[in-house]
Parts: sequence; structure tokens; C-alpha cells
Amino acid sequence: MVDKPAIQYVVEEAVKAGLVDILMITGRNKNALENHFDRAFELEATLRRKGDASRLTKVTHSTDLADIHYVRQGDPLGLGHAVSKAAMHVGRESFALLLGDDIIDEEFDLLSQMIVEHQERGATIVALMEVPDELVSSYGVASIEATEKEGVVRITGLVEKPDLGDQPSNYAIIGRYILQPEVFDILATTEPGRGGEIQLTDALTVLAENPNIAGGVYGIVFTGRRYDTGDRLSYLQAVVQIASHRKDLGPDFSAWLIDYAASLESASIASPASAGKSASDK
Ligand code: G1P
Repeated sequence: MVDKPAIQYVVEEAVKAGLVDILMITGRNKNALENHFDRAFELEATLRRKGDASRLTKVTHSTDLADIHYVRQGDPLGLGHAVSKAAMHVGRESFALLLGDDIIDEEFDLLSQMIVEHQERGATIVALMEVPDELVSSYGVASIEATEKEGVVRITGLVEKPDLGDQPSNYAIIGRYILQPEVFDILATTEPGRGGEIQLTDALTVLAENPNIAGGVYGIVFTGRRYDTGDRLSYLQAVVQIASHRKDLGPDFSAWLIDYAASLESASIASPASAGKSASDK
């Protein structure tokens, strides 16, 4: 995305929040991921020989970011199953879970806020975002109650990907969680749920309904920019928005974008039918 892989934004977000011990749960054919965060000796030597310090810094930056470990999920049995693969590495501590498809714009320090909330409440914390009706069936959706603090809600229940009309609210979990180690105990006995997969949402439901186990579950309602790189339209929007907010590329790119948007607008005024067709043609 712009000039680095999406996963690097996620790792940088964790590092910015002070988390430098990172475990990636990966799968088959994901070797490129490990290579990206490893040293690139030949490339580094070539750049050093050429005296290209700025590119060299970029290449070594991804390697020096954090202490990254990897474990393979093996059978793809669902998000809850993937999380349970972290049990040995994490031990009996709380930890952050960041889903690689979700990017939180680096302007917002959502993860740090979640960590503070977790420390103050001794509870599981998830990030929530209000989504329109047509998107509820793509997310874990929460039943919520207000707390004494604006922007923080208590979660009383959760449903994974509810059918439209069955959603308990329009507050969806976006891929950021601060989890307590008790989640591993619950996941160990969680039966397959929606889609025949072991769902993290189902384990969180148990924790939400039984606050005596690990302090309950709270949500921070996020209102900033978040992108889903697994969705084509959202991916394209992410690239454009990230580029236009970048200090180096932003001014030139935004100037071009304004001209380009104006040209699209005049084209749609000239020929509204064809413009409408191309806009909805995903
Ligand atoms: C997963 C979770 C879902 C959550 C979503 C956030 O779903 O199961 O509860 O709302 O991530 O992106 P997935 O996108 O993997 O289908």
C-alpha cells in the first residue's frame, strides 16, 4: 500500500503502542511475509555500494522494527483456532491481537488507548465501529451498554456475522483486541460456530456474559479512519487516503487527485448513464 506491504502498517502500529514482541500466525505459502521482515543482504550491500542511504534505511527499517516470531496455523479452522496457536508464546499474560486485513490509519492511537483501558479495567477490550446495515453480516456485532466514560461501552453479548435484521446493534468489531489469557482456556473448549469455524467471537461472548472469569468485555468506539484490505473498494480507498496524508507524497498527489476528481465529475455530468454504470461496477 503506497510503498510498503499492508502487514508492515500493522507491525508499525503495534510498535508505536510499545509492543515489540510480535508473533505472526501464518499459513501455507506465506513465506514472503517472513522474508520481508528478514535481512536482505544482497540488496543492502548493493545500496551501500551505491551510497543510496535513503533506500537502505527503508530496507533495514522493516527488519529492525521488532522481535518477530512466527507460528503456522496448520489447519485453517477459524480465527479462534488461529489465536489459540499463540498460547505457548503468550503464556499467562494479556496480549494484543491485530488482524492483518484491518489497517488503522497511523494518525490515530487506538491501540494505545485500548491498552490504557485494559490496564484501568482489568478487562478484555475490543475496538468497535458503527457500520451501516448492509455491512453487519460481515462482522462480529456487539450488544452494548453505556459506561461512565464517553466512547467506552460494556459489551453484554456478541454475534458473529448476524443476518441483516438479527444484529443486536450496528457496532461491529474491527480487528483490534486486547485479550486476557483466560481466552485460551475458553477457546480450548469452543465448538465450531458460524461457517463451521472456531470463532473468537464465541469465546468473547462467554467472557462478556461471565465477567467473573476475567473482568468482562468492553468496547472502545473508534471513529477514525480504518481500511479493510480484504475488500477491493476499501483497499483502493486506503491507498488513496494514505498517499494523500503522506508528508512527502501528499501535496503533489492531492493536487493531482483534485484535478482528476474534477475531470471525473465533468465526465459524469456529460454522460450520467455510463458514469453511473462504471461507479457501481465493482
Ligand atoms: C473477523 C472476525 C469478526 C470481526 C472481523 C474484523 O472476521 O471473525 O468478528 O468483526 O474479523 O475484521 P473475518 O473478517 O476474518 O471474516
